[in-house]
Amino acid sequence: MTEPPQAPTAAQQAWRELTDQIRLHRAAYYLRDAPVIADGEYDALIRQLEALEARYPVLVTPDSPTQTVGAPPVTDFTPVRHREPLLSLDNAFNLGDLTAWAGRIEREVGSQMLGCEAKIDGLAVNLTYVDGHLVRGATRGDGRVGEDVTPNIHTIPTIPLRLATPSPPKVLEVRGEVYIAVADFERLNREMAAAERPLFANPRNAAAGSLRQKNPETTAQRPLSLLIHGIGALEWDDAVPHPEWSTQTESYASLREWGLPVPEDRILAADIEQVWDAIVERGKHRHDGAFEIDGMVIKVDDFAVQRTLGATSRAPRWAIAFKYPPEEVTTKLIDIRVQVGRTGRVTPFAVMDPVRVAGSTVRFATLHNRGEVERKGVLIGDTVIVRKAGDVIPEVVAPVVDLRQGDEREFTMPTHCPSCGAALAPAKQGDADLRCPNAEFCRAQIVERIVHLGSRGCLDIEALGYETAVALADPDAGRPEGAESEAAAPVLTNEADIFWLSAEALRDVEVWRADRDGRMERRLYFWSKPAKAKPSRPTQNTLLLIDQLAAARSRPLWRVLVALSIRHVGPTAARALGAAFGSLEAIRKATQAQLATVDGVGPVIAASIVDWFEVPWHRAICERWEAAGVAASQGDAPAVKRTLAGLTVVVTGTLSGFSRDGAKEAIIERGGKAASSVSKRTDYVVVGSGAGSKADKARELGRPILDEAGFEKLLAGGPDALN
Ligand code: IVH
Repeated sequence: MTEPPQAPTAAQQAWRELTDQIRLHRAAYYLRDAPVIADGEYDALIRQLEALEARYPVLVTPDSPTQTVGAPPVTDFTPVRHREPLLSLDNAFNLGDLTAWAGRIEREVGSQMLGCEAKIDGLAVNLTYVDGHLVRGATRGDGRVGEDVTPNIHTIPTIPLRLATPSPPKVLEVRGEVYIAVADFERLNREMAAAERPLFANPRNAAAGSLRQKNPETTAQRPLSLLIHGIGALEWDDAVPHPEWSTQTESYASLREWGLPVPEDRILAADIEQVWDAIVERGKHRHDGAFEIDGMVIKVDDFAVQRTLGATSRAPRWAIAFKYPPEEVTTKLIDIRVQVGRTGRVTPFAVMDPVRVAGSTVRFATLHNRGEVERKGVLIGDTVIVRKAGDVIPEVVAPVVDLRQGDEREFTMPTHCPSCGAALAPAKQGDADLRCPNAEFCRAQIVERIVHLGSRGCLDIEALGYETAVALADPDAGRPEGAESEAAAPVLTNEADIFWLSAEALRDVEVWRADRDGRMERRLYFWSKPAKAKPSRPTQNTLLLIDQLAAARSRPLWRVLVALSIRHVGPTAARALGAAFGSLEAIRKATQAQLATVDGVGPVIAASIVDWFEVPWHRAICERWEAAGVAASQGDAPAVKRTLAGLTVVVTGTLSGFSRDGAKEAIIERGGKAASSVSKRTDYVVVGSGAGSKADKARELGRPILDEAGFEKLLAGGPDALN
């Protein structure tokens, strides 16, 4: 049978929808540390995509989520290319999956010793030691390029700055997981509560948020730990005697001696039965250990065999992650209510009797849409099964039908917006979701837009969290029923005036926040209580908010664009638009056709932008922001031209006008790839003073070599400028 040259349109459509969804969830998980679906649901999406691609192999692209890991970095941290990629792992969910994996290995390379170690629920980092000194710590990023978080890594006490050996490797990359131990996490959240700061949802989010702090002093306050689970690049000085590791076990022993934390309760299994015993045994004590685990990782111990088995672009063939099934508990479903999202989408969620599951108390769970409520067959008043797959987002699994009393009732989707009362309708015929069309005045939508603009991927205003946004734009919704304070007019009627907030305007604003059991507590947040001799004064948090709003005014244009909540305009499109047009004004004036020609924009986004600017209150937001000094243009610096689009450049040795990271940044900013090793695919090799083997390699392979002046020309004008 020959392969179909093209997949049917329906399959193409399904593929696009699945990949879009997965990318969104990856961004939510990896970039914002705020996943919106449970790990189990995410895994199910990946499996659907894998099945679709298996059926229609023509659909597979190099950047399909089945071929890639994590999410590309989009933060302010400097991008760094890992010397060797950080791969992910394929998953096994049952004994059958494991047996199939082990069977493939046995057929290919015979029976093997298998290391079984905890799968730590943290975030992957890559540490680079040169001559025994820790020179860099980076996050995983997309597996190839991560974020440079060296100053933050330096604050983690268990990470040695120098390896405890007189003869270290010339270069050693170690990979591991940064995590927060359960006891430390609980203490951290108690401290956050005492400081009236939002609590972390779980240790993983706390670790990710803490590692990616822009101020290392903040990271230093957080109880981060590390466990190493692998080695990346490794170079020895041949003149120095060094260990020859033939197994992972041996490498761990050396790393341990050198002061690096490695797994201590690892088991070496001779076959899959022993692996399974280890998994079952560990599963009984899953939540008893010092740190949260979400599974076990099984690895072929022999390095030579690892090399023979190799890897796909996504994961090694010599290792697999077994994921424990999510824990399930039962509780009472008290009510089903609806919430209104940033774009007006109305989604039902479950309100339950608080119940502990997988290490935290759960009271709410999303139900996605009315179809989901029907599919699950849950009634208000039911006893329901709840789980937290991957210890993140709680979900209602199903009702326990046998426990029904007869007084349960069906949920009916409201016909009107619970926040503003507008009639709900699908955005277009046939849509499953209902929306509130009142984007201009619906306070629930305004709150969501304000939260969005303050989020890390947007204008990054840390003090503008959810409760604060509610207090500013929808105070009645924040106040619990029966609270003694008076109804108050919101300080903000939409996001237009956000940059005009003054400490004075916040004087009477009350911030309500749920305590750990979900009860609402009032916090006198913006101004202190007047005491005898002391008049009321703005609190530290108020000053922080005002300061951060001031700083947010000079964020780059692309962030401002994302902050406007224009449909379909996320960071990628916004960056491209910012670079192409240079100012908000120029984008507003551009025609749909002009917008659509920008690389990464296209007709749908272009139409959405034109539509958005046609709305008078949208334009009013832009005007108020600009009047408040929001950087609506790239400033005097002209937009950086994408002179290196599609080119791979290696910089080696020291340049006088660029730091190493500065040179990389300059390449990436212009659309190029900053590679760290020279290959046939390298387009240019920039050679500074003291360059060594890479320059030789470039000559050997006949790759074009540039000095610093040539590099500057290349940056400014692309390859044409070199002629
Ligand atoms: S080994 C070549 N061992 O889980 C890939 N990974 O879901 C080597 N993880 O990307 C990974 N604990 O970040 C390995 N004991 C462990 C781990 C572990 C947690 C993470 C790692 C990996 C991810 C895959």
